[in-house]
Amino acid sequence: MTTNDRDRGLAGRIPVAEYRPAEIPETAGNPLIEALPLVLEADDARRALYRPVSQDPADRLRSPTERLMLVDRAKDLYVPFYECIQLYIDLGRAIRRGYATRNIMDPNAVRFTYQLCGENIDWSPVQTSTTAGSCLVIGASGCGKTTAIRRVLATYPQVIRHREYNGQKLNSVQVVWLHVDCPANASRKDLCLQFFQAVDNAIGTNYLDQYGSARRSTENLQIQMGRLARVLNLGILVVDELQNLSLARTGGAKQFLAFLRSMVNVVGVPIVFVGTYGLARILMGEFQVSRRMMDAGFVEFKRHERGSKAWKAFAQQLWRLQLIEGQDPFSVEIADTLYDMSQGIIDLAVRTFIRAQRWAIETGAATLSHRDLAAAGATQGKPIRAQLEALRLGDPVAMQHYPDIAPPVGWRDWAVPLAGGQRSSGEQGAGEVLRPQTNTEGRDGGPGDDLPAPHMDPDHAIVEAQKTEDPHGALGRQGLIADLDDL
Ligand SMILES: Nc1ncnc2c1ncn2[C@@H]1O[C@H](COP(=O)(O)OP(=O)(O)OP(=O)(O)O)[C@@H](O)[C@H]1O
Ligand SMILES: [Mg+2]
Repeated sequence: MTTNDRDRGLAGRIPVAEYRPAEIPETAGNPLIEALPLVLEADDARRALYRPVSQDPADRLRSPTERLMLVDRAKDLYVPFYECIQLYIDLGRAIRRGYATRNIMDPNAVRFTYQLCGENIDWSPVQTSTTAGSCLVIGASGCGKTTAIRRVLATYPQVIRHREYNGQKLNSVQVVWLHVDCPANASRKDLCLQFFQAVDNAIGTNYLDQYGSARRSTENLQIQMGRLARVLNLGILVVDELQNLSLARTGGAKQFLAFLRSMVNVVGVPIVFVGTYGLARILMGEFQVSRRMMDAGFVEFKRHERGSKAWKAFAQQLWRLQLIEGQDPFSVEIADTLYDMSQGIIDLAVRTFIRAQRWAIETGAATLSHRDLAAAGATQGKPIRAQLEALRLGDPVAMQHYPDIAPPVGWRDWAVPLAGGQRSSGEQGAGEVLRPQTNTEGRDGGPGDDLPAPHMDPDHAIVEAQKTEDPHGALGRQGLIADLDDL
């Protein structure tokens, strides 16, 4: 990136592509792939995904008020378990495969992009053959699905711009990833609006204002979303919280998933479907739909197992973040008590640890022990205690009251064969952990308001642009596809 670029607001924060040779011959000559960071081997990926929290021993001697301000540090720790590495591999492959049929140097792929911008689009998948696929991420609530996905996405720049490739001038923007949540009412229209908002946050455009007006139909918004995904060279779309589909009106869940599948099949953008076991309940029985949702990967985030190597490693990392002067050494009792207070749900373990620390600081305790963890755990709200008790007893009837935490009866027998030959964490325990020191917190592709806002009716502009010699340039000049030369 040049100094000049850096001085130009958000545009300056979007790196210009630096190309490196493709890993495999199949992806050579595709700037969208060659601009991505190199795929790391599993051990290096684990180092890159790990986010340690550095703590100075002198912090334990700070005043109680200051220490209370530091206890939330525990939430910043990230320990990459096996599932996260699996996700890194699956998402990396899905992004690259998705780009394989959308090479911006390939006239056919570019022509198809402009066809999508035309008026009478046939959205049936026969129009094009894409290599894009979908990944399914399912698991217990609080077991780290969203955090893992964010860590993996952070290993990629969110936005890249292309100016010149092999001596040929280019003027394209590449949005490598977007992450949206399934709306609480499972409305497709709201999903589209969230998508526009996510695009605006990534590249500083103004699509939400343009498309957000009530007069647009859901179908129209869906088309705009597909077009944008294509012209912005979207690498992967993550749709989280899909258990909300259980709240959709009759037939709504199917329509919602069918729309997302058309993004994969027609537009060629891979999708990661993410949800709790509540989503598993919706999918069970829908064999064809589910199989297609995991054709590029399936990762299950289960509760950890008591006494497992991964759990001990995680508990030990957490224990290092004590802010009490006299430090009790880490022991099996500590790992086990943390487990009993959380039943292997990471979110509850972190909260228990933070609560125990808070109490110890407030009461001026000289040390923190596993008994303090037990006491802190025992004060969790009644619903959580009831849930933990059901999990502890492994009572299948009681567990069905917690649809987001407990898998539906028969889930694993159903899902594992469905995942076919693919690796599935359903077949393996939570994996090995860390050693490393690198903190590679990803860059923030965050919001900005210093890009020019598009000002024309996008529908009209797209149709008009198609009539010109240079539709891409025409759309870019109107700010519709973030013409980077104007920034
Ligand atoms: N691998 C990890 N290492 C350390 N802490 C973690 C890890 N994974 C998750 N956490 C902690 O657990 C919390 C909850 O994780 P997260 O929100 O990713 O769970 P989730 O599976 O997405 O839950 P939900 O289904 O309810 O959205 C995080 O805020 C973080 O504090
Ligand atoms: Mg989540």
